Amino acid sequence: MTWTRERLEAVARARLDGVRLVVVANREPFIHIYEGDEIRCLRPASGLTTAIDPLMRACGGVWVGHGSGSADRDAADERGRLAVPPEDPEYTLRRVWLTPEEERGYYYGFANEALWPLCHNAFTRPQFRAQDWDYYRQVNRKFAAAVLDEIGEEPAIVFVQDYHFALLPRMLKDRRPDLVVAQFWHIPWPSRDQFAVCPWQDELLDGLLGNDLLSFHIPHHCNNFLETVDRALESKINREHAAVTRRGQTTVVRPHPISVDPDLIARLGPVDGLREERRLRGRLRLGDLPLLIGVDRVDYIKGIPERLRAVDRLLELHPEHKGKFAFLQIGAPSREQIGSYRQLGHELDCLVEEINNRHGGNGWSPIVWLHEHYNAEQLCTLYRAAAGCVVSSLHDGMNLVAKEFVASRTDQRGVLVLSQFTGAASELTDAVLVNPHDLDELAEGLHQALTMPEPEQEWRMRRMRQQVADYNIYRWGGLLLTEVARFLPAHSICCQPQRHSDPELLLEAHG
Ligand code: G6P
Repeated sequence: MTWTRERLEAVARARLDGVRLVVVANREPFIHIYEGDEIRCLRPASGLTTAIDPLMRACGGVWVGHGSGSADRDAADERGRLAVPPEDPEYTLRRVWLTPEEERGYYYGFANEALWPLCHNAFTRPQFRAQDWDYYRQVNRKFAAAVLDEIGEEPAIVFVQDYHFALLPRMLKDRRPDLVVAQFWHIPWPSRDQFAVCPWQDELLDGLLGNDLLSFHIPHHCNNFLETVDRALESKINREHAAVTRRGQTTVVRPHPISVDPDLIARLGPVDGLREERRLRGRLRLGDLPLLIGVDRVDYIKGIPERLRAVDRLLELHPEHKGKFAFLQIGAPSREQIGSYRQLGHELDCLVEEINNRHGGNGWSPIVWLHEHYNAEQLCTLYRAAAGCVVSSLHDGMNLVAKEFVASRTDQRGVLVLSQFTGAASELTDAVLVNPHDLDELAEGLHQALTMPEPEQEWRMRRMRQQVADYNIYRWGGLLLTEVARFLPAHSICCQPQRHSDPELLLEAHG
């Protein structure tokens, strides 16, 4: 039985049974900004917000996030609260205000210049600055206060997201041991030796072990985490049950690969998709050429230079493609206050110019580079128009672009070229899997995307679509919620078996 929004809603009603759900994620799902005197509401470019928003719409509750938009204060009440989605409210967004120093130290500094490179094997060196660490602690405390204020005296499940809040679970448990606290770590967890270079590894691990449940995308990241704890901290590890006990608190560690809402994506986009495609092709001067497409935040983990060099190599290895296709790279600007992100933007500008100069001519350029944000509808139109989508991350927890591309291909066509170092590669095994560090292999992947016979495209795409349909975001949310709800004393599965109106859930939750 497929997981749907309705099924998740039913599970949420049965499991939560009036208990409040509070999600904490640094990035807010809706950002308000000033454009002149007008206030505009935007959806940020973030796999995390794309995935958690449908869950919140189905379950209701409060999302506590950083109010980072220029008009955010004016669009919220005096406690920073507003009902979202603005056009059809289904849950509450509670904005937390940070000073510029806090944002710099906690978000740009410790989260994104220390933890982000520490957890990704992208050969960018982490920067450990004591002042950033102080701000990281301070902001975790600030979010803990906002969460406790939202909950009041009530019982609640707090579902913490990502590497911005490694200290929050322990802070919450110290204040309210009765709360159920779970966390999903959206990025990889590295090997124990890699993590050990962090000067504050013990505090980070102790903070995370305040969770009742800690979840990663894939078993490999769970194992890395258990080994890191084993090496670093005094604790009891139960390998069979993947559980760690420390300071009287047991944390269960589980893999739950995140996903998308394929039905929503299939419905996205204009009614007349072909007209919109023609309009976009016209605007981007793409003519009728077959398209390869890359869609990313401009981030050094995404392997964008590698992908562009592969276009260069493709034209050397297979000159017959000259003038016969276009590679469209969309790069949403990201974390631009950080030097390595600005440098990457500059490197991409130069690389595109160099490759286009080398191979282009007669009005044709192999690469079209758009350093800007595209909304979900525009992206769907482009995904559907593409011969292939290239995801060449050097390392990525999951990568939802891969799943969005598959979900948008209701025509069962198109080729996904996918890095073997993404979480998605362990599920989408019918993609053309490549090592992005191997230039010739990546170029050959692009060649395959341009030449794969339609019947082969179709059987690969059908199987990948089935995978994304079966393992969708509602299944992810439903199984996580079921697992988390077991920690609510009155809701325990062994005490109240009659609560399981959904028999398959029992099997899946235990499977
Ligand atoms: C990754 C992280 C998310 C983050 C997203 C966008 O997917 O796991 O937590 O929201 O990148 O990055 P940003 O820094 O703009 O939120």
